[in-house]
Amino acid sequence: MNLQTKKHLLDIDCYSKEEIFQILNDSKIMMEILNRKVKKIPTLRGKTIVTLFYEPSTRTRISFEQAAKILNADVINISIKESSSNKGESLLNTVLTIQSIKADIIIIRHPHSGAPYFLAKNSEVPIINAGDGSHAHPTQSLLDLYTIQNNLGKIENINIVMVGDILYSRVARSNILAFSKLGANITLCGPNTLIPHEFLSNNHLYKNIKFEPSLKKAVKNADVIMPLRIQLERQSTGHLPNLQEYSKQWCITSHIVSISKQDVKILHPGPMNEGIEISSDVAHGPKSLISEQVTNGVAVRMALLYSMLNTEPNMNLEE
Ligand code: CP
Repeated sequence: MNLQTKKHLLDIDCYSKEEIFQILNDSKIMMEILNRKVKKIPTLRGKTIVTLFYEPSTRTRISFEQAAKILNADVINISIKESSSNKGESLLNTVLTIQSIKADIIIIRHPHSGAPYFLAKNSEVPIINAGDGSHAHPTQSLLDLYTIQNNLGKIENINIVMVGDILYSRVARSNILAFSKLGANITLCGPNTLIPHEFLSNNHLYKNIKFEPSLKKAVKNADVIMPLRIQLERQSTGHLPNLQEYSKQWCITSHIVSISKQDVKILHPGPMNEGIEISSDVAHGPKSLISEQVTNGVAVRMALLYSMLNTEPNMNLEE
């Protein structure tokens, strides 16, 4: 527990490989606390965490809230509909107002890619990006890494297949950076119109990434299959004939899973559209780690908040 983190977490490339592994290690300690009968430690007592979500969220927002409360921080959730944003207040002025009430960290989700970067330049309060447009979702990457490591023992050389809307998925973008940095083999699969070919350029950021247009071929040697939701809310032009056509060709069904390795694991960042990118029996079946991802997200966010806010040399793990 001695990570010297950056002030802000804007995307996964803010962290080195060593820093990522430190958070994953710290998350194991946090998981032990999360599994206690009384899940509360005093570590962040006196700290105030503000969540500022301009887009809907179930998992990320409650996961941060749960993580903060277990560490004894105070949490303020700002409801955008009931805030002065509705009266025309700018994003910057909203954040400066939160700064003035002496918040210690701001967790923001925003529909515009880059919004957290703009705030990080203009705010004294540390910013965590909880998803910006189709750009980045770094805490989802951290929890996905933790889930894979926890179940497969490692990330290096693991074959990960991401299927579907890579183009508009902030989870895919952050995960490609994260998996690539940690040495996994990544296969992108889906309609050609939703695969950004910039990821296939094999430079220092994007390594061991290939595109496989056939779903059956893509999943053959997969250790992990991760279907992604079609982000219809972000698509300004039609990239697909319709969702039924998409589903016929790209849905992760039990038949597709049966083509893959016997012990393949299924991850999905959520929210799922069951029957479109994943069938219900796969989503809730024995190979699915989707519920575990949500639980792991709390532990990972506890480790992250701890690393960004704790000022004590040793963590008090007592209840
Ligand atoms: N994975 C994820 O970001 O889910 P929410 O939109 O529910 O937060």
